[in-house]
Amino acid sequence: MKILFASAEAAPYMKVGGLGDVAYALPKALAGQGEEVAVVMPLYKGIKEQFVGELEFVCDFGVPLGWRQQYGGVFRQMCGDVTYYFIDNEYYFWRDDVYGYHDDGERFAYFCKALLEMLPHIDFFPDVIHANDWPCALVPLFLKHFYQQIEAYRPVKTMFTIHNIEYQGKAPLTFATEVLGLSEAAIQELAFNGCLNFMFSAICLADKVTTVSENYAGELQTDYYGGALSSVLQGVSYKFCGITNGIDTELFNPKQDPHLFHRYDVKTMAGKKIGKRKLREHLGLLPEEDVPIVAMVSRLAGHKGLELLAYVRHELMQRRLQLVVLGTGDAEFENMLQELAGTYPGRVSVNLRYDADLASKIYAAADLFLMPSKSEPCGLAQMIAMRYGAIPIVRETGGLYDTVAPVDPETGEGQGFTFKSYNAHDMLDAVDRALWFYYEKKPEWKKVVYSNMERDFGWGKSAERYRAIYHSMH
Ligand code: GLC
Repeated sequence: MKILFASAEAAPYMKVGGLGDVAYALPKALAGQGEEVAVVMPLYKGIKEQFVGELEFVCDFGVPLGWRQQYGGVFRQMCGDVTYYFIDNEYYFWRDDVYGYHDDGERFAYFCKALLEMLPHIDFFPDVIHANDWPCALVPLFLKHFYQQIEAYRPVKTMFTIHNIEYQGKAPLTFATEVLGLSEAAIQELAFNGCLNFMFSAICLADKVTTVSENYAGELQTDYYGGALSSVLQGVSYKFCGITNGIDTELFNPKQDPHLFHRYDVKTMAGKKIGKRKLREHLGLLPEEDVPIVAMVSRLAGHKGLELLAYVRHELMQRRLQLVVLGTGDAEFENMLQELAGTYPGRVSVNLRYDADLASKIYAAADLFLMPSKSEPCGLAQMIAMRYGAIPIVRETGGLYDTVAPVDPETGEGQGFTFKSYNAHDMLDAVDRALWFYYEKKPEWKKVVYSNMERDFGWGKSAERYRAIYHSMH
């Protein structure tokens, strides 16, 4: 079966968050299970610069977008068994970042239109287009209103995956006529609560809708998590389900990760100790050998639970631990963390950037990994942390609930320390339980670390579930 996986980001070419990891690992796993898979993504400036000369030019054509006729070029490269197609348009994509521009709505509307326009020009007409998150959410609507009258497009089915409902893709109603050139009937299918909502239209029009963990699928149908879209999702529950993400276990493997100071596995755990010592030197942390490192590698956004940390940060630092944070995000949290690092020199290291190399070193050095998310569709970091032998401390939400069962400190069963309410002192209590376990229960601690490291976080089973859904559509 031919599957075209559409995403605004995909490793190894361009990655901002977890979506970029999934858009690399899931297509790879699907191809490994015998499907014909291609990925389509925009050709950003960074990709053009880094892969110049390597990419193969395929074709170009005009892309109608409202009254405009835009240029659409296509480049191609094989990455393992997966073909990557890149949509070239420098007006929209010759920029430093993936998201965050005033015309993001138009940029990704263009991308959706261009990828559909591309199909007759490449040697790959998909049975299923798997569209991800709001940037690809206009695919089902465009397919229905502009392409389905064309014979070749008629059998194409669509799957839409919600990686995060926090970002829905909203635009004023006038955008529908001025930029998209939609008919009145199409506008009806895009308008929701007084504005256009890309994700809303995809939820209604895609043949199947999925999200990235089973628990989040249930949460999204409640007001607290799904907001106004919760009732829409309830209404489509017959075609909506959750499939928990995996991670690429070749890429995230402490035994062969090229970024580490020292590689290790369960049999050579001394390597983890070396990595911890070196990271301390690297980040200017005190050489307190027996003190645990608590790490966070995260976007510094509200829904990641940073306000809980902010609320109890000084109480937290009264504990015997060192804190290492890596990530960028809201100024409010960046400032709070910088202040914290200034207040506790040698005990807190704050690194306000995106840095895959340092991320690996932190996973490898950490003893505990903190994810107090307010909402977390799946979360990949907790799985990477476990694979690198750091025990997660998580709030019981979304995929964190599905992937981290609470530790029983007496038996060493379970995977991490969890708390339920979105409450800073409940988080602190989970940290305290984890610290007690670290200092007082050495054999059980080891048991949890080892079994986490050996757990199967691969994509195998989840990819099979996606395939079952793709096949059920035809
Ligand atoms: C988004 C979600 C995250 C999920 C990732 C990949 O970044 O916030 O929870 O793991 O997408 O699906």
